Amino acid sequence: MLANTGASGLLRAASSNAPRLAVSARQFSASISNSADVDAASFGEQHITKGIGRLTKHVFEDAKGTFITTDKGVKLLDLTSGIGVVNLGHCHPKVSEAAAKQCSKITHAQVNIGFSAVQIALIKELLPILPHPSLDTVFFWNSGAEAVEAAVKLARAATKKPNVIVMQGSYHGRTNATASMTRSKTIYGESHGPLMPGVFTTAFPYYSQFGLPADTPTEELVRQSLLQFKLTLQQQTAPSDTAAVIIEPVIGEGGYVPAPPEFLHGLRKICDEHGILLIADEVQSGFGRTGKMFFIEESGVKPDILIFAKGIANGFPLSGIASTKALMDLQKPGSMGGTYAGNAVACAAAKAVIQVFQEENILDNVAARSKQLFGFLEDLKANSPAGSLIEDIRGSGLMVGVQFADRPTDAGSSNTAATKAGSQPQIAPKVVQECLKRDMLLLSTSIFDVLRFIPPLTITEQELEQACGIFKESLEAVAKEIGV
Ligand SMILES: Cc1ncc(COP(=O)(O)O)c(C=O)c1O
Repeated sequence: MLANTGASGLLRAASSNAPRLAVSARQFSASISNSADVDAASFGEQHITKGIGRLTKHVFEDAKGTFITTDKGVKLLDLTSGIGVVNLGHCHPKVSEAAAKQCSKITHAQVNIGFSAVQIALIKELLPILPHPSLDTVFFWNSGAEAVEAAVKLARAATKKPNVIVMQGSYHGRTNATASMTRSKTIYGESHGPLMPGVFTTAFPYYSQFGLPADTPTEELVRQSLLQFKLTLQQQTAPSDTAAVIIEPVIGEGGYVPAPPEFLHGLRKICDEHGILLIADEVQSGFGRTGKMFFIEESGVKPDILIFAKGIANGFPLSGIASTKALMDLQKPGSMGGTYAGNAVACAAAKAVIQVFQEENILDNVAARSKQLFGFLEDLKANSPAGSLIEDIRGSGLMVGVQFADRPTDAGSSNTAATKAGSQPQIAPKVVQECLKRDMLLLSTSIFDVLRFIPPLTITEQELEQACGIFKESLEAVAKEIGV
């Protein structure tokens, strides 16, 4: 009987039954309080799950704009934006101020109990910037994966069909349902099965996934991929069983590959022919990242459901879906919601984010810095021995991928390359390590040998110049190491 024993009683009970756990309450609290003397990274390694892969052992304490400062006073140039989240830079003053004000107003306006005033104010700002006026109804959640799950629930409820089709190379999250929809690396689902059934895969027009050269004409890749999509509907999941196809308009974790407009139009056409919904997952490519508020705008294709997260609240946990009222109204009241769905502080931050985009002409800076970055990378590729390692430079806005030639694939999580330095055969993780030595954070992506540049959209010309210099030095160091 453990009732009313309290924490020390529980520890006593545990120690009497299991000698290996024997520790008194006093010893236990002493070990925690002594932890003040322990290096924070060591404490984290001890007490945070090993399941989190980590690029560095830095402990982030402060951040402003494009820089993060660690607990040891190291100032890092951040080209990751916390994986495409702090699009307006760390702690943008207007966003932080809006969140702080909201903290003294109401922090938890629970959506299954009543309406949230700040959420409604956010929706008024959000609707006009969505890629199509038909996307007039929203649902907010916390993380990208939750929003993807919400999109799948909506598609199933609206079509009364069970299956979804995902792209080869896709990344949609790490929850059970979204891990089952992820095709960028096996690590996200490995040993966690059984995953959600009813998920089928079709081809994405990315040359590496067809084993074709980088200069394969786009029309050929699109032709192949649309053929594969038609075959998927004839060989894997019949249209009458298929609720939706979901696509990242720029494949993120799968290699930073923008979907050609012709491919998106082709998907739209086939979906329309068969009553299949088209879902755009703009969790990473949205909120100005690619130079438009959402990348799908480039093509003019209308998604039936749009998924957003990350950049929407610049670091506060907020995600959501937008769709038509006709579809959204097919869901039964009570079937959607969640304790923190559309948290008030996160909504206040998101409202400020949208205002900053307008007041500070953020998209103009994206266009200028994108030109600067592409110009630098193309010059490096064409005119330097180290640059000859580069096979492909691609992307849009400040979502830019660099792929190296003729290197093996790696199904491990290459962002954890810190643990594998020296034995890693790919170039990208080596460059990441060299950048780290020079106090710059840069990420690799996909099983292919790809680096991704995702700086804050507010990065200045001088900061980007500094980043390009560090990148060049880092690539040259790797080229020297491998004898190029
Ligand atoms: C395209 C895409 N979808 C979904 C997710 C999952 O988002 P979250 O990590 O917030 O669950 C991510 C995260 O990187 C993503 O890039």
